[in-house]
Amino acid sequence: MLTSSTDASEIGLAVDLGSGPGFQSIALAELGYSPVLAVDTSEALLSELRSRQGGLSVQTIHTDLSKLGEFTSPTTASVIVCMGDTITHLESKDAVVELLRAAYEALLPRGRFVLSYRDLSTEARGLDRFIPVYGDEGKVMTCFLEFDQADTVLVHDLIHSLAGGKWLFEKSCYRKLRLPVDWLEKSMRDIGMTVQRGQAGRLICLVGQKPEML
Ligand SMILES: C[S@@+](CC[C@H](N)C(=O)[O-])C[C@H]1O[C@@H](n2cnc3c(N)ncnc32)[C@H](O)[C@@H]1O
Repeated sequence: MLTSSTDASEIGLAVDLGSGPGFQSIALAELGYSPVLAVDTSEALLSELRSRQGGLSVQTIHTDLSKLGEFTSPTTASVIVCMGDTITHLESKDAVVELLRAAYEALLPRGRFVLSYRDLSTEARGLDRFIPVYGDEGKVMTCFLEFDQADTVLVHDLIHSLAGGKWLFEKSCYRKLRLPVDWLEKSMRDIGMTVQRGQAGRLICLVGQKPEML
């Protein structure tokens, strides 16, 4: 998808919003995007990214992704990605629309905004609220989803880790937005993007493109 263009102007600046340890940042840099701005609020994850980037042209920025307009100039980015269910971490649907506007502003003509996320707008019930996330011989992570509000879901992370022959139990919770894909796609179109919808594993993928001529 990101390699389909043959226009040289589209292989410049890339921005990875909520980069975490950099799966998308490193892939973008390997595709030739330069520089790649990797943005995250977790310094620990950005540090992990830096330890893996080798000589690739990736710059880490420790800040909130909603400040996109502060670390990019208008009409400069070839591609902006916000993947791996990061957008659902924003505070509200209004914040999502603000981000879409900022992304549109930052993109070059024909630039793309790539989103992948989980649509939790349909309420899961009973045992379907328990999601196995990860498991190996020393760690098991399960998620429990509590559909207690119309626009958000309370996500409980339950982690069992084996340490010194004993299983430790850790728990935490946080809110995620429930973003219906039809609403998100319409919001992107309303801002002026053309939009393609697809699937990336268990995540929905939306690719918005800014028009060539404004
Ligand atoms: C689910 S992870 C996805 C990481 C990566 N994109 C991937 O697909 O592997 C979400 C990431 O977004 C970051 N994040 C959440 N809210 C953020 C915000 N408001 N600004 C910047 N980063 C944020 C988290 O620290 C985390 O690294």
